[in-house]
Amino acid sequence: MQSSEVRQSFLDFFSVRDHEVVLRSSVVPWDDPTLLFTNAGMNQFKDVFLGTGSRPYKRATDVQTVIRAGGKHNDLEDVGKDTYHQTLFEMLGNWSFGDYYKRDAIHWAWQLLTDVWQMPKEKLWATVFREDDEAETLWLECTDISRNQVLRFGEKENFWEMGITGPCGPCSEIHYDYGPDQCAMVGDPDHVCGVNADCGRYMEIWNLVFIQYNRDEKGVLTTLPAKHVDTGMGFERVVAIQQGVSSNYDTDLFTPLISRIGDITGQSYAMDTTAVAMRVLADHIRTLTFAITDGALPSNEGRGYVLRRILRRASRFGRTLGQHEPFLYRLVPAVVELMGEAYPELANSMERVGTIVKAEEESFGRTLDRGLELFGTMVARAGQEKRTEIMGGEAFKLYDTYGFPVDLTQLIAEEQGLNVDLEGFDREMAHQRARSRRSATGADDTKSKTPCVPEATGLHSEFLGYESSEIIDAEIVVETNGWVVLSKTPFYAESGGQVGDTGWITVEDGARYRIVDTVKQDDTVLHRRDPEDGRPLQPGMTVAAAIDVQRRQSIMRNHTATHLLHAALRNVLGDHVHQTGSLVAPDRLRFDFSHFSAVTKDEMDEIEHFVNRQIWADVKVDWSITALDEAKQMGAMALFGEKYGNEVRVVKIGDASLELCGGTHLNATGETGLFRLLRESSVASGVRRIEALTGEAAYRTIKQDERALKDLAGILNTTEAHEAVHRAEALQSRIRDLEREVKRMSSASKQDWLDHMLSVSQRIGEITVASAQVESPDVDTLRAMADTVRGKLPDAAVGVLFSVINDRPLVITVVTDKAISGHRLAAGRLAKEIAAVIGGGGGGKAHMAQAGGKDASAIPEAMQRVPEIVREHLQ
Ligand code: SER
Repeated sequence: MQSSEVRQSFLDFFSVRDHEVVLRSSVVPWDDPTLLFTNAGMNQFKDVFLGTGSRPYKRATDVQTVIRAGGKHNDLEDVGKDTYHQTLFEMLGNWSFGDYYKRDAIHWAWQLLTDVWQMPKEKLWATVFREDDEAETLWLECTDISRNQVLRFGEKENFWEMGITGPCGPCSEIHYDYGPDQCAMVGDPDHVCGVNADCGRYMEIWNLVFIQYNRDEKGVLTTLPAKHVDTGMGFERVVAIQQGVSSNYDTDLFTPLISRIGDITGQSYAMDTTAVAMRVLADHIRTLTFAITDGALPSNEGRGYVLRRILRRASRFGRTLGQHEPFLYRLVPAVVELMGEAYPELANSMERVGTIVKAEEESFGRTLDRGLELFGTMVARAGQEKRTEIMGGEAFKLYDTYGFPVDLTQLIAEEQGLNVDLEGFDREMAHQRARSRRSATGADDTKSKTPCVPEATGLHSEFLGYESSEIIDAEIVVETNGWVVLSKTPFYAESGGQVGDTGWITVEDGARYRIVDTVKQDDTVLHRRDPEDGRPLQPGMTVAAAIDVQRRQSIMRNHTATHLLHAALRNVLGDHVHQTGSLVAPDRLRFDFSHFSAVTKDEMDEIEHFVNRQIWADVKVDWSITALDEAKQMGAMALFGEKYGNEVRVVKIGDASLELCGGTHLNATGETGLFRLLRESSVASGVRRIEALTGEAAYRTIKQDERALKDLAGILNTTEAHEAVHRAEALQSRIRDLEREVKRMSSASKQDWLDHMLSVSQRIGEITVASAQVESPDVDTLRAMADTVRGKLPDAAVGVLFSVINDRPLVITVVTDKAISGHRLAAGRLAKEIAAVIGGGGGGKAHMAQAGGKDASAIPEAMQRVPEIVREHLQ
């Protein structure tokens, strides 16, 4: 059976049993900050299990690409070593949302495997959770599995959890017995083959999870309102069984890819040593292709760093196969060819994926070889010192200087039978973080002037700044080191990219204190007082607190515009765009996002126009507090790596934008007035930055530009901008023509006088003597001309140039090396005597000398005397 038939027959089996066939979700769970990658088919239904979301169907089936690298379910280290681990695999699933439960799930699983796919019953084993009598009974009741092939296991094997938190429950796994030949531990007297004995003989192929709990952050299990079924089948393993091979990598899902790797590298999969590398490459390139297609990018953080590690690991295995130049990117089309039919989205991004992979390979390729060399010396040193460990500092050096992720160092150390001191590595890493934090604060002038923020005081300040700009009855809770805490405050504390508010605190006797910044530590809002203002504030005082309203209004304009910009970018550039950083200040906004190429001028125009259209439509900006899962269900954009509580604030701008955001916003987009993109630039590989202005600031730059344009038009003698453009273009082209002409003339004229000078040269004994009067604007040019002359003169020669510069006669003499060494001639002495004829003096070195005179009219005479003077010097 072809893999495509296996895939289809699974979907068909459940589809005729009333399951809705749904599409896979992205391998990058953009809306779930608790997950690195989509690690199970059930991820996209998490909200349904939790009861916070719903679907128009009660049963579903799909094929989900999942990535198990980093995070709770991590198979990265095992890939390549055996024939059945992958970082990316396809998971076939069927789901019941509060509909059927254990009975049907077990019954159908058995029916599909043994009836439809005809797997031998004696090779199938079932496991159930230790306490799950019901599941065990159902296996015996609804199937004809042999009684002794149903086993019980504990939490580790038979209680499935998605991550640290989330829906979970007992599960029942189905394992396949590949036969005693597949046991990797043959000959080990202590080993007994069996289910979950991890020897490669019995392999889990399907997991039926009976979801009935949610685990919260504290680890507590609560029973869900309804019971659900979540099953996941390892597609590649099932295909291997159907195709009668014992390795996933021998199925038609991998063989074309492996043979492509063979073609490129000229190596053979039949060899044990190269097979490991080939499996790693085949697996890793699939993972990279899917993850990048779905919008992730290699970087130094979070998901991006997992991808970078995968890519660098693949590059290293490429070295094993003799590849020293980027080559992984050449495998991308092979992945697309192989999987494009099942996943048409791959074809659209094939080129982009290739470019990104290649750029990463190039950048790591620059340091990989040198890093490997250094690693070699580390291994040697460990040998000399009888260590079995690569030291933490050494691993850190490889990481810091050569870009070796520590797991890569572990991998190559393991190949040499060495460990890596991970604790030492972590210590070095922590030191570096501390160093860079210190230098960041030291380098930033404004920060270094900021008095230290006191440690979190554990106080709660009520934030009323969404509705109010002024509060008249706040109480001073504490003042410490220039920072004031109020019982309640309209001041927004810096967070989520939005800068802190400034304003004033007024005490009852009318005295005012300026607040120059606001920051937050946990729930405590800290207001920084103007350090110039020394009067103390007493705890317990009642004060009025008012923010600088105009400044805040500008900030809000920029914040609302930031959301619109984010929406515009996704609209114009594509869904792979995700925010990676943002600054919302009163005078400007800055937005960093994932995107691989520069944004073109046309795209910039389109983005700007999109935002302005939203502004002109004066769309209402709404916000609400809701449960995190509900917000995600609504499709709100969340930031990966950001910690959100269970309750989140969602900011909605019509149909254009929905984001989790704690910032302050306008009531309606029209208040933004105007949006103007300033510039676009690159921040890091795959990360672009846009800077923009709103409201009056945007208007002012337009006026400035308009003024500059008018001035320019004036200089070009016109009042029309478009006319100015034409004239500037015409000028440019005229300048180009003239430059060409000048060049032509100057080289022609240079040729002329030089030729002439050499043609009228004389011989005095063995010495050639050439002289000429030339035009030159200044002494430097004349010297340059003399240099040229010296270069053109024959072996033993003297050259003399006369010119009149600023009404003064000038002479430069040059003497070739041969004439200096063989005939004792010196330019300095010659110049002195020639200059005497024109009423002056001077001198210089042996090879070139310069002299000035008073009487330009004597130049012809001086020129005539040159041969004579040379002759005298020869004697
Ligand atoms: N969630 C289970 C798993 O991933 C079954 O789909 O194994």
